[in-house]
Amino acid sequence: MSSTLQLAFLLGDGIGPEIVSAAVEVAKAALQMETIETEWQELPVGQIAIDEFGQAVPNQTLDVLEQVDGWILGPHDSASYPEPYLSQLNPSGSIRKHFDLFANIRPAKHFPETEALCPGTDLVIVRENTEGFYADRNTHQGTGEFMPTPDVAIAMGIITRQAVERIAHVGFQLAMQRRKKLTVVHKANVLKLTTGLFRDVCYEIAALYPEVTVDDFHIDAVTVHLLRRAPEFDVLVTENMFGDILSDMTGQLAGSLGIAPSINASANRAMAQAAHGSAPDIAGQGLANPIAMMLSTAMLLEWLSEQKQNPALLRAANLITESITQVVSAGTSTPDMGGSASTTEFASAVVSMILTKP
Ligand code: IPM
Ligand code: MG
Repeated sequence: MSSTLQLAFLLGDGIGPEIVSAAVEVAKAALQMETIETEWQELPVGQIAIDEFGQAVPNQTLDVLEQVDGWILGPHDSASYPEPYLSQLNPSGSIRKHFDLFANIRPAKHFPETEALCPGTDLVIVRENTEGFYADRNTHQGTGEFMPTPDVAIAMGIITRQAVERIAHVGFQLAMQRRKKLTVVHKANVLKLTTGLFRDVCYEIAALYPEVTVDDFHIDAVTVHLLRRAPEFDVLVTENMFGDILSDMTGQLAGSLGIAPSINASANRAMAQAAHGSAPDIAGQGLANPIAMMLSTAMLLEWLSEQKQNPALLRAANLITESITQVVSAGTSTPDMGGSASTTEFASAVVSMILTKP
């Protein structure tokens, strides 16, 4: 085993190539500053992979991902794929499922001095990533969605004790490193058995973390609580679909969906992925905000630092995060944050900031 860090990146569709390139550039600068030797590989995914290999996620790509330490996935515009790809599980769903990346960690953190609906927001959505109400990926084989007649469609939701236990542990461990507050989000007044099990198992796991203050809300109610007082929330644990919806909202509450990062992790693998989509309407125009992708990459390095017990990786992650914050505070940002920098101008500013650090 070489000590060289092995990372991969997958550009994806729409704004993917622009923001992933920006994130890789910034990561390279930070890793170089910490003299962490890194080998990067670009792997095909999405429309490019369909054209070249006849698969949105080619087997070759999965084989390499199996070997590397971690990777960055760009957004995909799977809604525009031709059949049969359109009907298949989309690339991020299928990669998450293939590697059982069960924990989707989605922070929403306001940058000081920037405009936001809820200034001071600093919370993390911990989204169960493998089952719940996303019927396109919640079964071992086939899907949990079916159509007995052309006019009847049925979808199945699945909650298992095992999946709730492992995501609850992730949430509580995170809360222990943060403000020691955890909110369970469910809809147990309606989806009594499924999200009721989710809530109850979370409370069982809570007993193992007595220092963490726990409460719970229905998904509909929590949206209003977040709008009114997001800064009071710390860690929110929820099932797949609720977490997907809620994390778009919390990203926007903290300033912009364009700054909302995430990683998808299992016990021994992680994938960086922005919480937002591929924004095909602004693709190729230099308008995309690369912050979410950059922060996701920093999260990946932080996760790797813990896995490998290597503090230099944490320093590289912090270098990225701090430099972005400084660049934004100095008034450089993309149009969605009120600035006028292009994607590449913003990336260059962050790289320069990283390289000036002692
Ligand atoms: C997300 C997304 C994905 C999902 C899409 C891109 C397939 O909404 O992760 O936020 O459905 O899980
Ligand atoms: Mg989403």
